[in-house]
Amino acid sequence: MENTAPERKKRVLSLIQPTSVPTIGNYFGALKNWKNMSEDYDCIYGVADLHAITVHPEPALLRKQSQEMFALMLAIGLDPEKSIVFFQSHVHTHSELAWILNCYAQFGEASRMTQFKDKSQKHAGDVNVGLFDYPVLMAADILLYQADFVPVGADQKQHLELARDIADRFNTRHGNTFTLPEPFIGKVGAKIASLQDPTQKMSKSDTNPKASVSLLDAPDTIIKKFKSAVTDSEACVRYAEGKDGINNLMSIYSCCTGKNFEEIEKEFDGKGYGDFKLAVAEAVVNELKPVQETYAKLINDKAYLNECAKKGAESALRLSYRTLAKVQKKVGLYQL
Ligand code: TRP
Repeated sequence: MENTAPERKKRVLSLIQPTSVPTIGNYFGALKNWKNMSEDYDCIYGVADLHAITVHPEPALLRKQSQEMFALMLAIGLDPEKSIVFFQSHVHTHSELAWILNCYAQFGEASRMTQFKDKSQKHAGDVNVGLFDYPVLMAADILLYQADFVPVGADQKQHLELARDIADRFNTRHGNTFTLPEPFIGKVGAKIASLQDPTQKMSKSDTNPKASVSLLDAPDTIIKKFKSAVTDSEACVRYAEGKDGINNLMSIYSCCTGKNFEEIEKEFDGKGYGDFKLAVAEAVVNELKPVQETYAKLINDKAYLNECAKKGAESALRLSYRTLAKVQKKVGLYQL
């Protein structure tokens, strides 16, 4: 027999901030892919609680939302036996590598991050250094694990570019140390828009509660929200330019059922928007049902959640410490 030593699986890493319950936009755009990727890759998924404190959430709320996000990650099917699932703040290597990488990130490039510029305007009274340093901490999250792929939304691509630039700069100065991470942009059709203004991305921070559907919305709430979704006056279910509302509903239906647009057009040929909206709502309710049922069990089992979090933190520390130790040595920190 030939030598068939198995290749190391590629490594995937992503973190999510624990700000309010994710929407179906976050789910179809990111979380569901996290779950799918965990079949084929070595995956590391975390709750980015250190990133969250840059905008000073109320402490009790942050604690609660972090726990909820962790439970939700397990509820969508991330398996803590197969993937590393952890809280960023439980693994000290993240903050430590971030400090070192600060010395390899340029003030100018960090100043050019569009998210930093946006947030500086939004939080004009508190442009703290953490907000500025946010992408460097994110670079540390990624580089610590030698991640090959980082599934991110379009809004995080610039941060990933910065992580690559920092890694490359470090490698050039000290020899090969970090894997250069590639962005992994999800399949098309996974970009979900607001139900009230389908030209805008669905956002959990939308002030209109009817604009977004949370993963934990009750079935009747979901149905109500879809019934009031903005469409157009053509009364024909077809995917076309200018039909943003219908296009969006078709994308959502496609994400839930796996059907393509042509199949959906056929299925609703001659039917009105009322029927279509109800079908989309029911598909979403069905898709979320197992997630919601598992979540309901997990969120009341703090002992189990903590056990998983502890295990995740231990594995994450073990893996990330290898990189941190190498980096400390390369930059010349005195070793015991
Ligand atoms: N900044 C990311 C976001 O808001 C979250 C994040 C933190 C992240 N660290 C990361 C994403 C590392 C990917 C990799 O979406």
